[in-house]
Amino acid sequence: MATVLAIETSCDETAVAIVNNRQVCSSIIASQISIHRQYGGVVPEVASRQHLETINWAIAQAFEQSQMSWEQIDGIAATCAPGLVGALLVGLTAAKTLAMIQKKPFLGVHHLEGHIYATYLSKPSLDPPFLSLLVSGGHTSLIYVKDCGNYETLGETRDDAAGEAFDKIARLLKLGYPGGPIIDQLAQAGNPQAFALPEGKVSLPGGGYHRYDGSFSGLKTAVLRLVQQLEKNNTEIPLADVAASFQETVARSLTKRAIACALDYGLSTIAVGGGVAANSGLRKHLQASAAKNNLRVLFPPLKFCTDNAAMIACAAADHLERGHTSPLTLGVESRLSLAQVMKLYQSGY
Ligand code: KG4
Ligand code: ZN
Repeated sequence: MATVLAIETSCDETAVAIVNNRQVCSSIIASQISIHRQYGGVVPEVASRQHLETINWAIAQAFEQSQMSWEQIDGIAATCAPGLVGALLVGLTAAKTLAMIQKKPFLGVHHLEGHIYATYLSKPSLDPPFLSLLVSGGHTSLIYVKDCGNYETLGETRDDAAGEAFDKIARLLKLGYPGGPIIDQLAQAGNPQAFALPEGKVSLPGGGYHRYDGSFSGLKTAVLRLVQQLEKNNTEIPLADVAASFQETVARSLTKRAIACALDYGLSTIAVGGGVAANSGLRKHLQASAAKNNLRVLFPPLKFCTDNAAMIACAAADHLERGHTSPLTLGVESRLSLAQVMKLYQSGY
C-alpha cells in the first residue's frame, strides 16, 4: 500500500494531495479561475506564475490537512503531460526537487491516466477491464482500460472536446468562464426539447456513421446560427432553453457512443472522468441508458471530476506498487497519447 504525494499543475489549478493507495489523506486545490475569468480563458504565462506563487503553500497545506510527515511518504509524483508546458514545469520541477532532497522515488504521471484513476477514489474495489469515458476541457475519448498503464483509445472527438464545446457556447451566450458549470446550472430551468440540434455524427466513407467517434463543431455552429436567427428576428434569446437543448444534445451523443462501445467490447462497467463528468445532464442520461442495458456506470466524487492531485497520486501509487519509477531527467510534454504512458517509467525505457 504505497503512500504518494502528488502535484498537479497542468492547467489552472495548483493542486497537491497525499493518497494512501486509493484513500485520500489530503487534497488541496487552489483554483486560478477568478484570475483567468477576466480574460475569458486560461492565459498560460499567468497560470505558470500563479503556480509558482502557490505551490509551496499548497504542499504545506497537504501535510497540515493529513497530519502526516515526510517519513510516511513512499513516492513523489507530478503531472508531466499533456498540458501547458510552463505550468507543467512548475509542478514537475517541485516534485523532482523534493524527491532528490527527501531521497524518495519520483514518478511523472499522464494527466488523462489521472482522470481515469479518479473513479477509484469513490470505488476502491474497481478493477480493469472497464470502459473509461473521458470528457474534459481538452479531451473526449472512449478508452479501453486493460490494466495499469495499458490503455487503448477506441473513440475520440474529431474536433472540439466536450468541455471546450460547453466553454465556447457559454462565451457565445455571454455567460462567462468556465462555461460547463454555468450552462449546467442554467439548463435546470430550461426545456431540453426546445430546439432540435445535431448530435455530431461522423460519416464513414462507405456510408453510415462511426459508432464511437463524434464531432462537436457542427453542434457549435448550429447553436451560433440559432442565436443569429433569434437576434435577426429581434427575439430575446431564451438562454435557459438554449442551454438545456445544447446540454441534452451533448449528453445524448456521448451516452449513445459510450453504451455502443461498452456493449461491442463486452465491458460491463463504464467509468466516467474529467470535468464534464460533473454534468447533471450527462449523469442522468448515462445512468438511465446503462440501467436499460444492464451496464454499471461509475462517476468520481464531484470534487475529483475537475482537475485535482488526488487522482494523480492514486495513479502514481498503483505504478509505484508495480515498481515503476521515472528518471529525474524526465521532461514535460504538451501532447502525449495515453498509449505512450509506459514511456514515462524506467521499466519502459
Ligand atoms: O478536467 P478538467 O478540470 O480540465 C481539463 O483537463 O480539461 O475539465 C474542465 C472542463 C471545462 O471545459 C469545464 O467547462 C467543464 O470541464 N465542466 C463542466 C462542468 N464542470 C466543469 N462541463 C459541463 N458541466 C459541468 N457541470
Ligand atoms: Zn483535466
